[in-house]
Amino acid sequence: MYVQNSSASKRKPVTMPGLQEMKAAGQRIVMLTAYDASFAWHIEAAGVDVALVGDSLGNVIQGHRSTLPVTLDDIAYHTAAVARGLSATMLVADIPFMADRDVAHALEAGARLVGGAGAAMVKIEGAEPHILEAINALTARVIPVCAHLGLTPQSVHKFGGFRIQGREQEAAGRILAQAQAVQAAGASLLVLEGVPRSLGKELAASVSIPVIGIGAGPDCDGQVLVVYDVLGITPGHRPKFSKDFLAGRDSVTAALAAYVQDVRSGAFPAPEHCFD
Ligand code: KIV
Repeated sequence: MYVQNSSASKRKPVTMPGLQEMKAAGQRIVMLTAYDASFAWHIEAAGVDVALVGDSLGNVIQGHRSTLPVTLDDIAYHTAAVARGLSATMLVADIPFMADRDVAHALEAGARLVGGAGAAMVKIEGAEPHILEAINALTARVIPVCAHLGLTPQSVHKFGGFRIQGREQEAAGRILAQAQAVQAAGASLLVLEGVPRSLGKELAASVSIPVIGIGAGPDCDGQVLVVYDVLGITPGHRPKFSKDFLAGRDSVTAALAAYVQDVRSGAFPAPEHCFD
């Protein structure tokens, strides 16, 4: 049975200045999704720096084909559960589809996820004008923001599917400009998803905030994956950019430790997990 406050962690709490120092020192940041207190506890024990309550819970927990049906209530519920399993690992919570449709809604989401549920930061997809306004408003009210660019899953219909972004020069230039814009608006962390590894490298070098890649190559400042992919238990097709770390190992603990070690050392992602 899960016992609250039973975390084995004696680690120093991970903070945003700490992540910034890791980027400066060239130390890779390890991020992983979590959706409940028990997984949060194991993620913390494995030494993951940042836990993300992603709206990927729509896929892996709720069984939807996209993240679009996920609500703010869903994210708040899972964020509160994950927060109870963590002590040192930093907690980021996703702002779900349309909960960022204007500044008032984005602030309401920030207040619920950070003030109520226990996240330290919210993640918001895109760089459209209303998103930049929301990042500005959230950070002005001391709610730290993680931006999310590239293959942003909430834009699946705009993209015509889950397609790698930034392959053409013009599209790559647009994503680089978006990175500057979200940084200028106040974002202190950036998730970059589904882009060629060359763009991941260029983008991470072009901003001062840490860039966490998922399908963005090995040259980002850190990596994030969906924990169910890391454990090889995602139903159906596992994405090319992910890896089953439980294969050949005998426990969840060993799989999570291997993920942490391989991100830190740069062994993950390998060329077969990257896009050109
Ligand atoms: O929702 C999510 O889990 C995410 C990560 C995969 C980056 O946004």
